[in-house]
Amino acid sequence: MDAATTQAMLHTLQDPTGIPSHPLIFQVLMVLTWVPHILFVNISLGAALMGLYAFTRRHDPHWQLLSEATTKVAKVGVSLLVVLGVAPLLFTQTIYDPQWYTSNLLSAAWVIGFIFTLTIGYLAWFSFYLKNHGDHAPGWIFWLGAFGLAMFLLDGFIMHILAYQGLHPEQWVAWYTPGGQVDMSGARIHTYELPRFGFFMAMSVTVFGAFLIAYGDYFKVRADRTPAYLAFARGLGSKIALIGAGLQIILFLWWLADLPVDIHAWTHPMTWLLLIYLAVLTAAFWFTRTHPDGQGYKLLTLSVGMAGLVAIFREVLRMAYMAPFNYNVLDYKVHWDVPSFALFLFTIVGVGGLMGGFIITLVYKAGRVQGPYQADSTVARLGMGSLAATITWVAAFMGVGIWIWLRNNG
Ligand code: HEM
Repeated sequence: MDAATTQAMLHTLQDPTGIPSHPLIFQVLMVLTWVPHILFVNISLGAALMGLYAFTRRHDPHWQLLSEATTKVAKVGVSLLVVLGVAPLLFTQTIYDPQWYTSNLLSAAWVIGFIFTLTIGYLAWFSFYLKNHGDHAPGWIFWLGAFGLAMFLLDGFIMHILAYQGLHPEQWVAWYTPGGQVDMSGARIHTYELPRFGFFMAMSVTVFGAFLIAYGDYFKVRADRTPAYLAFARGLGSKIALIGAGLQIILFLWWLADLPVDIHAWTHPMTWLLLIYLAVLTAAFWFTRTHPDGQGYKLLTLSVGMAGLVAIFREVLRMAYMAPFNYNVLDYKVHWDVPSFALFLFTIVGVGGLMGGFIITLVYKAGRVQGPYQADSTVARLGMGSLAATITWVAAFMGVGIWIWLRNNG
């Protein structure tokens, strides 16, 4: 389909009622909220793979402890990545609704399958977690875990095709009507990009490696984790992170080489910023490899920074893909709705910030204590604050609804 027709199609598919505030706000939030999603994807996939590998070596107490720990990390991580995926999903489908919904319809069977495969994958992983205790855990449970990880990888791939097919609107009509016949099955995957998907997988190796070094530092205060075990975890994390960062550079270059020439990715400053950052990250892992002790939090923070740049790069790329069709989110029709926008901000900052802050602080502090944990006054105050914010939020939400209902029916 030619560029002018594709442009007209994209604009026709946009929501005619527009969006309730400035599109830049949605775009920035989309990029920002995707960062925690992908970080938990990375940690979970890395932890799941490690949980399985360490399980095969469980006759050694260090590997057995590591297998149990990383199996648990993946169990918690997957639940968090699902919850954290919701926010970028809301923003993507608000400003890139033609791309997201069309891609979903074109591969609808895969989107529906995503829910089922994620559910059975998680159930399998949970069963593996329940049985993975002690060095006498039965060997067959490995296959439960392997099945769970395979499902998570498949789901990541489905996410990738949904994002990637959305970048090729010029092909949608051809995909929808192969050979001139309408195909409403939604059963096909129309395109994918291996280096792009591979890059996110390699990123899982890096981020998990950095996580493992930080894990070794975090548990130093616990008497039930020996210094030898923690040093083992840090050493392993260090090697894994270094391999991951190297793989990321290779896959990033492959990804860049695979991009259409008219994207001009090689001349974009974001490309070089990310490449230099990846080189610095690799150097940081290299220089700390012999003495990773105490470096975990710094290396993990550097990895979070990398995820931030990857998120921006993804968006810069999407804008470049859309440019030939004059699709710029900043042109999106705006119908200002100040009360709903204020409620939205209040929800993010008040409820999200306080509740999120409370949970993170609580989990961080409780994990460092062996046995029952007694909350200190800061945590208790944060807990009270988040409860108060939630009650105020419910009251405001219901109040605005009742007020509008009364005004319309009065
Ligand atoms: C095991 C499950 C999952 C894995 C492994 C996974 C992995 C990924 C990966 C690799 C990407 C980047 C794709 C690309 O840009 O090529 C991605 C993007 C994304 N994921 Fe997930 N994901 C999972 C589950 C979820 C869930 C449950 C949600 C929503 C509730 C979600 C929401 C998103 C969103 C909104 C994007 C960005 C899409 C876009 O910008 O067009 N993900 N995910």
